Amino acid sequence: MPRSLLAITDVDRAEVARLLRVANRFREVMARDIKKVPTLRGRTIVNLFFEASTRTATSFELAGKRLSADVISIKGKGSSLEKGESLKDTVLTLASYAPDVLVIRHQSAGACALAGRYTDAAVINAGDGKHAHPTQALLDLYTVEREVGPIDGLHVAFVGDIAHSRVARSGIAGFRMMGAKVSVVGPPTLLPRHAEESLGVDVSTDIADIADADVVYVLRMQLERMGPGRLVPSLREYAATYGVSHARLRPGQRVMHAGPINRGVEIADDLADDPGTLIVPQAANGMIVRMAVLYDLIAAPEGASEQRSALGDAVAV
Ligand code: CP
Repeated sequence: MPRSLLAITDVDRAEVARLLRVANRFREVMARDIKKVPTLRGRTIVNLFFEASTRTATSFELAGKRLSADVISIKGKGSSLEKGESLKDTVLTLASYAPDVLVIRHQSAGACALAGRYTDAAVINAGDGKHAHPTQALLDLYTVEREVGPIDGLHVAFVGDIAHSRVARSGIAGFRMMGAKVSVVGPPTLLPRHAEESLGVDVSTDIADIADADVVYVLRMQLERMGPGRLVPSLREYAATYGVSHARLRPGQRVMHAGPINRGVEIADDLADDPGTLIVPQAANGMIVRMAVLYDLIAAPEGASEQRSALGDAVAV
């Protein structure tokens, strides 16, 4: 594992597999009455969320607390960013308190890499613009492996607003790394240019092409990133043409969505509530996967066997 996690491609297939195994160990801890281990006692984690978040912010905070770290959570609103302080000066200030990890979400692609220049702390990218969301990819891989089965050989279809989606970018790279076939389906205006070559996926503009997929990954319409120009005629027409509903699925297909959901736009209301989807497990698995990432960056010794032994000690307490 590198000192920071800025993109899913910072880790290789073996490291992803190891992280998912560590997450499984933390799942066992979470099944206990006392859901806390001393693994990161005396360590400091600063969560810096410059952009809105429910799932990532909450699960990172809880993950740090369950590992007994000192956790400080700062949101853009209410911080000195509102007075015009730059990202550099914010990071330099926080770095002076000697944190072990900065978890950063930012609206600009590349912000987490930039922040890493001004701190010795490990940096975890919790979502930067439309660039990357590596811990989302890890929790998605964990969820599919647990709920569907081995990822190698599965077909995963990402549907909708691929162009603006960091979830898709990281997910596509992650699923491909683990041996899945990946395709993307969406309107031409919401597909990145040269998607086939740049992402290494099959590309279609026909929603019927989700039929072959084992897993249908529905993407949020990222309206906040689309700018003033209309990229779809209307949300109603988008829903009619690309919205995923029971009628568009065949039996056995599993549905994912990273959230937050636009009900009735990219996913039908009753499908979003269907307990057969992976949406709730995705949210739940976020915490244990983020515990695994924090553990690996801060506390795990070099080498898988040593690490297993250290984690065994940590979770036995
Ligand atoms: N999936 C995800 O990143 O959700 P939040 O924006 O709520 O963190």
